[in-house]
Amino acid sequence: MKTLFLVLRINVLIALALAASCTGRENNRKAGDNGAAFSDTKVILTPAPGPEVRINGTKIFGVRPGSPFLFKIAATGEKPLKYEALNLPAGLTCNASSGMISGIIETPGVYSTVFRVSNALGKKERPFKIVCGDQLALTPHMGWNSWYVWENHVTDSIMRAAADAMVSTGMIDHGYMYVNIDDCWSVKENSKDPGLLGPPRDERGMINSNPRFPDMKAMTDYIHSLGLKAGIYTSPGPTTCAGFVAAWQHEEQDISRYVEWGFDFLKYDWCSYSRVGRRDTLPDLQKPYILISEILKRQKRDIVLNLCQYGMGEVWKWGKNVGGNSWRTAGDLGGSFEGIGTALFRDGFDVFTDNELFRYGGPGGWNDPDYLLIGYLSNWKGETVPTPLTPNEQYTQVSLWAIQAAPLILSGDITRLDEFTLSLLTNDEIIEVDQDPLGKPGYRVAKIDSLEVWKRELEDGSLAVGMFNRGEGTANITALWSDLGIVGKHKVRDLWRQKDLGTFREKFSANVGRHGVMMLRISAK
Ligand code: GLA
Repeated sequence: MKTLFLVLRINVLIALALAASCTGRENNRKAGDNGAAFSDTKVILTPAPGPEVRINGTKIFGVRPGSPFLFKIAATGEKPLKYEALNLPAGLTCNASSGMISGIIETPGVYSTVFRVSNALGKKERPFKIVCGDQLALTPHMGWNSWYVWENHVTDSIMRAAADAMVSTGMIDHGYMYVNIDDCWSVKENSKDPGLLGPPRDERGMINSNPRFPDMKAMTDYIHSLGLKAGIYTSPGPTTCAGFVAAWQHEEQDISRYVEWGFDFLKYDWCSYSRVGRRDTLPDLQKPYILISEILKRQKRDIVLNLCQYGMGEVWKWGKNVGGNSWRTAGDLGGSFEGIGTALFRDGFDVFTDNELFRYGGPGGWNDPDYLLIGYLSNWKGETVPTPLTPNEQYTQVSLWAIQAAPLILSGDITRLDEFTLSLLTNDEIIEVDQDPLGKPGYRVAKIDSLEVWKRELEDGSLAVGMFNRGEGTANITALWSDLGIVGKHKVRDLWRQKDLGTFREKFSANVGRHGVMMLRISAK
């Protein structure tokens, strides 16, 4: 008993010493009072949605004149909900029971509408802007992608099940909308698997899907019928990264095929393009993307374009100019299953900071550090297993993506979400940071050893602040007002717990566990 007490005491002393040395700044010994320490177990912090209505998701949406419009109002609250959209522009209507707004706007303009959602307990209203012009993706994309869980086993029924799950889990009510197939939907010539064979193109040269996708149009119709959008993937080379038929010399035809099939999102990779094109100069790197986005612009359908060339040629500096709505900033975050944690800290923090990526993301074009690798993932050995990220690392990934204004695209198994994973994906106050209409990505304002403080300026004048502990033990982190560029008394709210922590002057301190984070919203009184 005595020995145990001694061991505990020593541990506490070590923790205190670590906390004191890690801040390197005035240490607030009362930090623990803020209730902020994260333990590295699966603790659900996100409060469950209440019975009262809450309107969620993006507050602004871009559409081009003449393109089909589809947007489902995202709202939680005891069902049934009744949805209204006030002051809709001519051409659009809102279905009161599904919350789906559809139609076509012909006249460009900024339309200020108001969503009103009601249930037995009352009603809520929230402004919503529709910007009809030449820009899509006015906030980062939210959705699901098949790659990291299904890789080359993806099928039509998997995609439909993913869409169903986006509805049944309630993710759709928090603003998730894209259901995206990654690689492996086209034919793989010479494959040993008969499920992947078939004529790669028809007699006119139009691309075919492989037998696992018997009717792409029926599949996207199904996804749309749920109020969701559908995404597809290809590469500018002759084959995709996994060796399936891709777009080389068929770009125009392939885009018209995607339009005919009803897709809303295209991830355009680089793989195998080096076999047929050059990559020596910037114009070489830009060429395939300029070509594809020019074709996309001519379509009577809005297709969001995601560039996937792993950051070559500092793509963040020109991704938007070549028509990209987002661009991958680094290699595959989950290329090595065991290495996901390492990649998260390298690509998530260092690639972003070293290249000052916050300067380049904004409405219409976002930095894309890859997918949310939480829940069940493929381990690339034929099994689907829980993410190797610790609970704290999972909080860190979602928080960092939100503060950086990165797309929130889950690539774990959406049909098998445990409560913890779902809670990470559906915290509306964290999502609100990601989707803030100002669209200014956050950045690091202070770093001492492995402790970092990040801030993101939000539309209402408040700040989202992330206090990240990249170190190996619990540490006390202080966010100094002087680092955040604010003075005087400020209200501090814990975003994961959705709780006000009080009013603070000059600084806020909290204990943060190994590889964990504390996400705050700081606003003037
Ligand atoms: C590349 C991309 C991944 C995925 C695979 C598919 O590696 O970076 O995101 O699309 O191709 O083969």
